[in-house]
Amino acid sequence: MASNNLAPVLLMGKSGSGKTSMRSVIFSNNPANLTSRLGATIDVEQNHVRFLGDLILNLWDCGGQETFMDHYLTSQRSTIFRQVGVLIYVFDVESRDREMDLKYYQECLQSLKTFSPDAGVFVLVHKMDLVRGDKVTVFNKKKLELEEAANDIPVTVFGTSIWDESLYRAWSRIVHNLIPNAPVLAKHLAIFGEACSAREVVLFERTTFLVIASSASIDQSSTDLSSGTPADGHSSMLGTRYERTSELIKSFKHSCSRSRAEFQSLEMELPGYTAVLDELTRNTYIMVIVHDPTIETAAIRMNIALARPKFE
Ligand code: GTP
Repeated sequence: MASNNLAPVLLMGKSGSGKTSMRSVIFSNNPANLTSRLGATIDVEQNHVRFLGDLILNLWDCGGQETFMDHYLTSQRSTIFRQVGVLIYVFDVESRDREMDLKYYQECLQSLKTFSPDAGVFVLVHKMDLVRGDKVTVFNKKKLELEEAANDIPVTVFGTSIWDESLYRAWSRIVHNLIPNAPVLAKHLAIFGEACSAREVVLFERTTFLVIASSASIDQSSTDLSSGTPADGHSSMLGTRYERTSELIKSFKHSCSRSRAEFQSLEMELPGYTAVLDELTRNTYIMVIVHDPTIETAAIRMNIALARPKFE
């Protein structure tokens, strides 16, 4: 595959809402507890992140201090908002400056509509871990408010926190939208799953461990990555098992690197199911879950090895 630069992804929102933190957790593999050391972003920090080997994500982390926001919306407007692929707008759920937050949000959406009318918009109600009490109610109220404020612009809203898998859930769906051959990948994954009698098969991107495709046999509820907002607005264990795996493996990889070991693969044999997580290609890991106790992990590994050339 030739090197493939994707249209810019704008990361915007008020200063301190958590934009750089989420970028560093997902793309630089930094643990969440180190994000408090990050300084405020000055102006726009452009990052070219290699994803799936040959895709280059062009991430524009836009510092959220008011002076910068005012520049983006006036003198830099056409530079910032032209040819954007995706806008990710981040709100701090605890922010008390509701009116100002909404004003900037609406102005950014209008600018995007003018210069990149086809861009996708994802809104993250972030720092959900700080909400005391009923997170679902708080999220749903905020979601409604942000959808209404967007007027006729379609937005997909997620509740996120750097402290749990909700961040992986949102970013997996965002990135899925950017992968040109995502439907083909999902189709091949389903064929592979059927061939090895797997109940579920999940494909992860190697560096970020974001979920890029998944397939489940018919009697299982499958995770449709191409649409939808989490039903509970934040994260239910059932709906985010794959993203929970992303989060756990990322932490495990981090521990491995601290002891100078490299994470390679994982096998789990528990009553009722067997799971194998292994390298599929240079840029992906695959997790295969089978419920048939007669299927040996060695057979699963062999199937993965045989499928490798098809996915490279
Ligand atoms: P600017 O660069 O000024 O635009 O800010 P920013 O949006 O990039 O914010 P930054 O990532 O620097 O985060 C500000 C603070 O929020 C840091 O201390 C982070 O540790 C904290 N933070 C980020 N995400 C979360 C989260 O999900 N939960 C909690 N509790 N704190 C978070």
